[in-house]
Amino acid sequence: MHQMIRSTRPTPEFTLSPVMAGVWRMGDWNWTPQERLRWIEACIAMGVTSFDHADIYGGYTVETLFGEALALDPSLRAQMQLVGKCSICLTTENRPSYRIKHYDTSFAHIVGSAERSLRNLKVEQLDLLLIHRPDALMDADVVAEAFTHLQLLGKVKHFGVSNFTTTQFDLLASRFPLVTNQIELHPLHLAPLTDGTLDQCQQHRIQPMVWSPLAGGRLMTSDEPTASRVREALATVGARHGVSIVTMAFAWLLRHPSRPIPVAGSRRVEAMQEAVAALSVRLDVQDWTEIWSAGSGHEVP
Ligand SMILES: NC(=O)c1ccc[n+]([C@@H]2O[C@H](COP(=O)([O-])OP(=O)(O)OC[C@H]3O[C@@H](n4cnc5c(N)ncnc54)[C@H](OP(=O)(O)O)[C@@H]3O)[C@@H](O)[C@H]2O)c1
Repeated sequence: MHQMIRSTRPTPEFTLSPVMAGVWRMGDWNWTPQERLRWIEACIAMGVTSFDHADIYGGYTVETLFGEALALDPSLRAQMQLVGKCSICLTTENRPSYRIKHYDTSFAHIVGSAERSLRNLKVEQLDLLLIHRPDALMDADVVAEAFTHLQLLGKVKHFGVSNFTTTQFDLLASRFPLVTNQIELHPLHLAPLTDGTLDQCQQHRIQPMVWSPLAGGRLMTSDEPTASRVREALATVGARHGVSIVTMAFAWLLRHPSRPIPVAGSRRVEAMQEAVAALSVRLDVQDWTEIWSAGSGHEVP
């Protein structure tokens, strides 16, 4: 058992860009390091300075791909924020000791995974580390101990969680200050609006990060009736504001008072620009509700 060390440092200032870039899919893009660098530079140039990683992305390969690109211009590190995640253990040829997919929130796994992320990314510090998924075997004291250890060594600045329910969040937050809960939210997945997740973010004054803001592309491409209905509503409201469907999908997220930070996942720079354009759009409550109704399938009661 490790000695519990309580951090006495004040929580350093925490900022992410209002729209972030997610690199989950970067391994599929089959890009050269130069092409990856150009995408990173283009994101930074448009104000998308925060990059969302996880140890497992690309079957444990994306951090290294990103690190290779960053090594071509290490001065970019000072202009970006790097978010990492750990706790999911995937069975791939890169991890021969894993017999089945499982979660691990032990001290050794959290610290070891964060240290490996730093090596892969070729950086000294992560700005934020998240527990990727809730773990039934999570011992909150142990996780707090691992977070404290990484913070005191200067390896990670801030900590948060992803996909946590409100009670799971409360449990860990009772042991260590958490700065975010990264969740799925879009008009095809409205649960966080009513299950307490976003209420909790407002209550704690933390901004949720939002993954798959376009439902992983389904919002744009799926023929499923709800997706078609949402697309139509996004187009109608978008036409009133003179913006695209993609921009409207992001503007709908940004309208929530918990101030969500969407994590956009496109390889295309122009699609990232459409996401950023949403920062200049303010929906009124009727616009917002029209899109909500298309997703929920009914008007407000
Ligand atoms: N915490 C978690 O559990 C969790 C889970 C999933 C994801 N994430 C994070 O969230 C990030 C974003 O997720 P995501 O990639 O699913 O986000 P997304 O923005 O919902 O979906 C992006 C996908 O949609 C496609 N797409 C199709 N039409 C598009 C259009 N008109 N405009 C933009 N994209 C379009 C993109 O293809 P093109 O590239 O060809 O544009 C891309 O494959 C990930 O990279 C990861 O960092 C976290």
